[in-house]
Amino acid sequence: MSFDLRAIPLDATALRTLAAKGLEYRLVDTNDVAAATAWVEADFRGFHNARPRQVSVDYDLAVIADRRVQGVYDPSIADPAIPVATVSSWPTGLSVPGGRSVDAWAVSSVTVSPTHRRRGIARALMLAELENARAAGAALAVLTASEATIYGRFGYAPATRAATVHVDRRRTHWIGPDAPGRVHFVAAEDLRTIAPALARRAVARTTGEIDRWPGILDRALGLVDPDSESSRRKRVVRYDDEHGNPQGFAVFQVLRDPNEHGIVEFDFLAAATDEAERELWRFLVEQDFVTSVRGLLRSVDEPLPWLLEDPRAITVSDVADHLWVRVLDPVAALASRRYGTAGTLAIEVTDPQGHAAGLYELVVDERGRAEVARIDPDRASGTGTGTGSASGSAPGIRLGVHELGAIYLGGVRPSVLARAGRVASSAASAGRAIELADRMFLGQRTPHLSIWF
Ligand SMILES: CC(C)(COP(=O)(O)OP(=O)(O)OC[C@H]1O[C@@H](n2cnc3c(N)ncnc32)[C@H](O)[C@@H]1OP(=O)(O)O)[C@@H](O)C(=O)NCCC(=O)NCCS
Repeated sequence: MSFDLRAIPLDATALRTLAAKGLEYRLVDTNDVAAATAWVEADFRGFHNARPRQVSVDYDLAVIADRRVQGVYDPSIADPAIPVATVSSWPTGLSVPGGRSVDAWAVSSVTVSPTHRRRGIARALMLAELENARAAGAALAVLTASEATIYGRFGYAPATRAATVHVDRRRTHWIGPDAPGRVHFVAAEDLRTIAPALARRAVARTTGEIDRWPGILDRALGLVDPDSESSRRKRVVRYDDEHGNPQGFAVFQVLRDPNEHGIVEFDFLAAATDEAERELWRFLVEQDFVTSVRGLLRSVDEPLPWLLEDPRAITVSDVADHLWVRVLDPVAALASRRYGTAGTLAIEVTDPQGHAAGLYELVVDERGRAEVARIDPDRASGTGTGTGSASGSAPGIRLGVHELGAIYLGGVRPSVLARAGRVASSAASAGRAIELADRMFLGQRTPHLSIWF
């Protein structure tokens, strides 16, 4: 996807709905420093953050320069230059099963001022973002959520989960293979030059990750405000393979009270190979003078328990939904990924907002590649319930757009949603369709997103 993000006109429905409340819905010119700074300040306030220092404002101004930035303004308030609501969005690749990427639309910075809450402002903005995503040609929209109860109503579903992984240092005895490469301490500025390429490779091999933008690497490496206490705490390590080629990096800090053992904490580990992933984990869990290691936003399916003699050295907490997916174009979304088994499945999707509603036929070949077609319901036959296949003989499932988003990356099996009464098989399929859907949608890796956006 490449086009002028600002060329998409403001959504007419949102303009009208908000105008009826005396509010102005505007595209923010990110070159207008005063307007963009006011938007950043509203975003900080919306997330209950401290007022930003100039260095944070400058960082955010650079990040939003590559985004579509919108605000809602109330001319009647004391400071009408500060928006009462914010949202930003941009096109991104999302890694999907089969080592492929789908065109997605990332939505971020959704805030509404506490003075203007529960009047339908977020609703107007979120519905407009679905239109923006479609105008941009995205197959689906993605976000990470501060609360799990907000976005389901707009068709988003939790598609990946993340967890905090704790490792008890005293019980860490490594039984994994010895790697031929080495871990080096490196300066953040030096790593920064190769970080984008390593991050790209790490994202490409992990279903559920989205493309990294330059600013997130600066922030992860502590380069946004290098003299701040939190940046100075960061340590950067790089793993080079036996040929001396960098294959991954991690950023960690050791939290510790004077004279006490510390806790290693990390939230950024980018590995382009399994070997790099193992060795960076090994480095982190084999530190001395620490009691434990804490990995944030880790996969719920880490290989770590299989690398330690005592898998009970590991405990997992804070398992929660992380990436939310909202399918907009089922044909493009379903055709973008690879599947676990060959077969033909009819999929009937309902969608309160209409975007993804319809009957689709997913035909997967022996190599896991898909052809997807939207089927005219009048031509579909076989079940008499509206769910069938173009050929009339394929098994079929019925589900809402929310459930489609949940199963899309393979993060939950369709049969689990069937047990919850949220996915049904067509009468003619008698459960066969659910079993086939399970095998088709299963990915090689448990999907995982390791950043907030
Ligand atoms: C979340 C937030 C943006 C909602 O804004 P809002 O303008 O008050 O929301 P709306 O009035 O448009 O409400 C839309 C719907 O979402 C529901 N909703 C809104 N906020 C909710 C919340 N925090 N939890 C659960 N439901 C919520 C409303 O009840 C409403 O439901 P309905 O349309 O089915 O009746 C606002 O509360 C906020 O800024 N929160 C702090 C920042 C934040 O958490 N942002 C989300 C980032 S991921």
